[in-house]
Amino acid sequence: MPGCGACASGDATADSQISFSLATAGGKKGLIHMNIMQQDILQQLEQLQQDAQTALILATTTESVRDWYSEYLSRKGRLTAILRNLGNLSAEERPLIGKVANEVKSALEQALQERQAAIAQAELDAIRSAESVDITLPGRPQNLGKLHITTRALRDIYAIFTAMGFQIYDSPEVETDEYNFQLLNMPEGHPARDMWDTFYTTTPGLLLRTHTSPGQIHAMREYAPEPIRVILPGKCYRYEAVDASHESMFYQVEGLAVGKHITFSDLKGVLINFANQMYGEGRKARFRKSYFPFTEPSVEMDIDCVLCGGKGCPVCKYTGWLEMLGAGMVNPHVLQNGGYDPAEFSGFAFGLGPDRIALQKYGIDDIRYFFTNDARLLDRV
Ligand code: FA5
Repeated sequence: MPGCGACASGDATADSQISFSLATAGGKKGLIHMNIMQQDILQQLEQLQQDAQTALILATTTESVRDWYSEYLSRKGRLTAILRNLGNLSAEERPLIGKVANEVKSALEQALQERQAAIAQAELDAIRSAESVDITLPGRPQNLGKLHITTRALRDIYAIFTAMGFQIYDSPEVETDEYNFQLLNMPEGHPARDMWDTFYTTTPGLLLRTHTSPGQIHAMREYAPEPIRVILPGKCYRYEAVDASHESMFYQVEGLAVGKHITFSDLKGVLINFANQMYGEGRKARFRKSYFPFTEPSVEMDIDCVLCGGKGCPVCKYTGWLEMLGAGMVNPHVLQNGGYDPAEFSGFAFGLGPDRIALQKYGIDDIRYFFTNDARLLDRV
């Protein structure tokens, strides 16, 4: 039997002709003389390619393709196992089988790449259709935060007083005994101090302010002898028996006007205007005589109950009236402490509680809700 390049070393008995149809076998079918071992390897390669291609069609997920790779193409896979037998061929026999093996390998690699791309695309399509957004649906309303009720009341108060020419003045929450009491006509041992018991720091003479009134002295000392019109908002602290209308931390807004010829009528005009704007036109207001060491005369202002209109209800304790604030004409000693000559200047001052105003305005029955951080409170207004 004549030899050929592919079977140069073949012994005559083992030689035979096979027709192999590997698409990769040199690009053409052919009749080539080979020995048994070569035929066997070629058949194994052909079988491998068929098996691999069928299995690849069935592999539909990234995981199954990974398994497929490890079975056919990995270092421990079937192709490598076949190639190990090439070592048993002679140097002349190896090139043809090696070439076929390489072509099988690259055909499978190519098929693998295409399969991976198809699977990736299919997986992407699945995600897209599962997560697709229907842009024709109406939008969902956003859950927006809301301002705290006291903040709203404070902003309303700022707007009303700034429109009347008052400036907002910031003063400290940690005060000295001198500012909180002494300069406001409450020397040590003065009985009025009992109404405003507070929290003391470990530094002697330094305390949390019980009211915003010490801010009057700060503002006057900064502006004297110029006329002033300021409001002083901020937190106050009291050693308080906490209940539905008393907190140990609460807000106040102080008001102060100092100038020449300021009278009690100015005070009434400003406060009635404020009440009408805050609660609505036509509010009834009344002034009751009162006592504060830093004003003379002193009053308390009530408005008719916003909930029952004056008929009497639990909120107004069946009096028909709600206390709104304390006020009065600035005591001459306090004017002096602020740097003004009381012979020339006069002034009025008031102190209102925005938390209490918010309770009244929004019909909330307990001030303690304001600091318990339960957001449902905000839905009540
Ligand atoms: C004072 O604090 C005076 N400094 C007010 C003042 C200023 C009078 C200027 C004259 C001139 P009084 O203790 O009444 O006053 O408090 C004023 C307001 O603060 C009260 O009407 C109330 O609205 C509010 N308030 C007082 N204590 C509390 C509390 N424990 N919890 C919540 N609000 C309070």
